[in-house]
Amino acid sequence: MTEWTKSSWRAKPRIQMPDYPDQAALEAVEAQLARFPLLVFAGEARRLKKHLAAAGRGEAFLLQGGDCAESFDQFSSDAIRDTFKVMLQMAIVLTHGAKVPVIKVGRMAGQFAKPRSAPTETVEGVELPSYRGDIINELDFTPEARIPDPEKMLRAYTQAAATLNLIRAFSTGGYADVHQVHAWTLGFTESEKVDRYREIANRISDTLDFMTAAGVNGDTAHTLKSVEFYTSHESLLLEYEEALTRIDSTTGKWLAGSGHMIWIGDRTRQPDGAHVEFASGVQNPIGLKAGPSMTSEDLKVLMAKLNPENEEGRLTLIARFGAGSVGEHLPRLIKTVREEGANVTWVCDAMHGNTIKSSTGYKTRPFDSVLREVREFFAVHATEGTVPGGVHFEMTGQDVTECTGGVRAVSDEDLSDRYHTACDPRLNASQSLELAFLVADELSNRRAAHRDQAAG
Ligand code: PEP
Ligand code: CO
Repeated sequence: MTEWTKSSWRAKPRIQMPDYPDQAALEAVEAQLARFPLLVFAGEARRLKKHLAAAGRGEAFLLQGGDCAESFDQFSSDAIRDTFKVMLQMAIVLTHGAKVPVIKVGRMAGQFAKPRSAPTETVEGVELPSYRGDIINELDFTPEARIPDPEKMLRAYTQAAATLNLIRAFSTGGYADVHQVHAWTLGFTESEKVDRYREIANRISDTLDFMTAAGVNGDTAHTLKSVEFYTSHESLLLEYEEALTRIDSTTGKWLAGSGHMIWIGDRTRQPDGAHVEFASGVQNPIGLKAGPSMTSEDLKVLMAKLNPENEEGRLTLIARFGAGSVGEHLPRLIKTVREEGANVTWVCDAMHGNTIKSSTGYKTRPFDSVLREVREFFAVHATEGTVPGGVHFEMTGQDVTECTGGVRAVSDEDLSDRYHTACDPRLNASQSLELAFLVADELSNRRAAHRDQAAG
């Protein structure tokens, strides 16, 4: 076995990555990125890892969400603010149900590169290379737009830096102060869920008033004035990742400085492939997507490679089997984890196994399937006596019509109204909040069951 370096992935088979036609241009971009400041700090990644360890034990709960693919065109301050806001709302609802801290991790500030189901796309007899995300090529259906351009990495870096800058300001600058719990309601999320949210917000306000009256201040009061918000993305475009990978002077270990948590996609998790090699050597918390094709054998090898010291919080298994298939796959993988005595944090991605084509031709996801997958995930963990550690959604604070269903029902015909995603369909703000309530119910049922067990 050769020693890991930040470039050792280059000697491994790589898939889902572009072949840049201009090598000199690529190298110039890599050299430039390698001098740029890292976007995140090692201490932050280690802190997130501790929180994820707690989620793996049932002492915290992960809420991971954001765009399928961030886009250059739709980059705006309002879009970032609205997604951040809905995540805060969802986190309040979840905390209320789970009575444990909710870890907030955005699919943000780096979620640009996309794996595709086919290398080319054919429209009316014309075949072109697939769109692979704004960091690589362009969505327009022309031969020029689909040529991979390394310069796009620089623009993605700049957008990620600006996004993170805004998130950091929102997190600590007063906006996320829990005393603002009422102000996070989005104008257009009028539904019965908003009333339920207001009820919770009222109770929180009362509690805060009580704490102030009782003279609670100092650290506790300070903690309530800010949130920790972390970033994550699929570590797919390894040239970009490598250029932002540096040694952390505190520990002497490598850090992928492009985001706090990075994950390996369901299509690029070959145990001997480039993506697993890269992730194995950085100290960040790592996510690993597990779809129906994940075998026990592969999972064993992957756990050994990605978490050889069996560190808690290091490895998050993001299950994405699809509604109706969780019962077939999750128990066998839980068994493997148990046999290996491995520490993992189980998370449910209820999006990627539930993509269908609507009768009107749009790629969509029925809200009911998303919800059903979450329920099946909780049910399997209840049967197995293992811990459901979090949820992973493609969602936005914008009022889009991309997933069908929800209380303010989006129909197949409605999809064309505001279908803006550059890749997969996202839950809109109202659907996201609704889902948070349903997950909160699952979490409080789980708490009740544990209490009964303890009492019985
Ligand atoms: C994604 O998270 O956008 C994605 C492509 O997921 P998966 O690898 O699970 O298909
Ligand atoms: Co997606």
